[in-house]
Amino acid sequence: METSTDIEYDTFEATVDRSNKLETDIQNCPGKFRILTGDRPTGRLHIGHLFGSLQNRVRLQNLSVETFVVIADYQVLTDRDTYENISENVKQLTIDYLAVGLDPTKYNTFIFPHSHIPELNQLFIPFLTLVTNAELNRNPTVKEEIQASGQSRINAGMYTYPVHQAADILFCKANIVPVGKDQLPHLELTRIIARRFNDRFAAKHPVFPEPQPLLSKATTVLGLDGSHKMSKSRNNSIMLSATDDETAALIKKAKTDSERLITYDPIKRPEVSNMLLLIALTTNKTPESIAEQIGNSGAGKLKSLLTESLNEYLRPIRLRRKELETDPQYIHQILKKGIAHVRTVAEKTLDEVRHFMNMEI
Ligand code: TRP
Repeated sequence: METSTDIEYDTFEATVDRSNKLETDIQNCPGKFRILTGDRPTGRLHIGHLFGSLQNRVRLQNLSVETFVVIADYQVLTDRDTYENISENVKQLTIDYLAVGLDPTKYNTFIFPHSHIPELNQLFIPFLTLVTNAELNRNPTVKEEIQASGQSRINAGMYTYPVHQAADILFCKANIVPVGKDQLPHLELTRIIARRFNDRFAAKHPVFPEPQPLLSKATTVLGLDGSHKMSKSRNNSIMLSATDDETAALIKKAKTDSERLITYDPIKRPEVSNMLLLIALTTNKTPESIAEQIGNSGAGKLKSLLTESLNEYLRPIRLRRKELETDPQYIHQILKKGIAHVRTVAEKTLDEVRHFMNMEI
């Protein structure tokens, strides 16, 4: 390979700085940007997703930024053998997206599973030739996922999915990818693939932009155990689709500490502080002021306040969810329309790629 510079990761602080500047540019000129984000369809979404990423996507969509949302169904098979639930999970994920306010009927928002976009998947092949095995082996997020999967046989999809993710991002020439910290290595690889493709095949007419990460300012919500990020696999989540009673029961069981006076201290009192944060997010108050309000009334009061404010906050989302669940036809239509549009975009890019790779006939 002519261009074999090593992957260099920016400092996290530099990424945060650039991300903040980007945020201003988006506000000033939303039409210059195209966003791509997505999720694996491994189950329903929870309130950690809502406050951590979904609300940010809706905000950007509402600023009229073109928004591509990939449902990464192939990626599901990188760390598990089960595929029985994929179709149902794709539908539930779409329902969650629509329920929180992503709206393909009103905005330039496109929701699609990548397995339905052959031209996107085809980019995976040339992209694989632009990275080395050593680079793939070094990816810290992949290493963690291999650890977490508990599997002794790791399939090649696990090592290569970050390259596939580059195809997810580059096929539509997205220039912004809103991500959490764990996805930054993948985005750096995507930027490198874009750069190497351009340098190698299309120096005079760069095909791909180097997409920038947009770190969501949103808060990381801890799980109800207070010790880890909220995640379905840790069984510490409140799903968007939970009922009021289920939500109440989960909060009732949640861990707190033995101190009666409620104070906001995320380092020393993570469980209590996480609940205060959730109340803050759902009431537009500060965690400190809520702590003060509860004062000596203890964990019982904290929990009842959280149950009330969260259920109130989620009510419209849950109602919309229920409605959508009764209309599978509509969900199907949304995906069909997303796929149809996205394919036209992917076809154009693949044509261009063939042209520059000297593969026209
Ligand atoms: N890897 C992401 C996750 O596990 C999902 C994903 C697939 C993604 N393709 C993407 C995220 C492209 C952002 C951009 O959550």
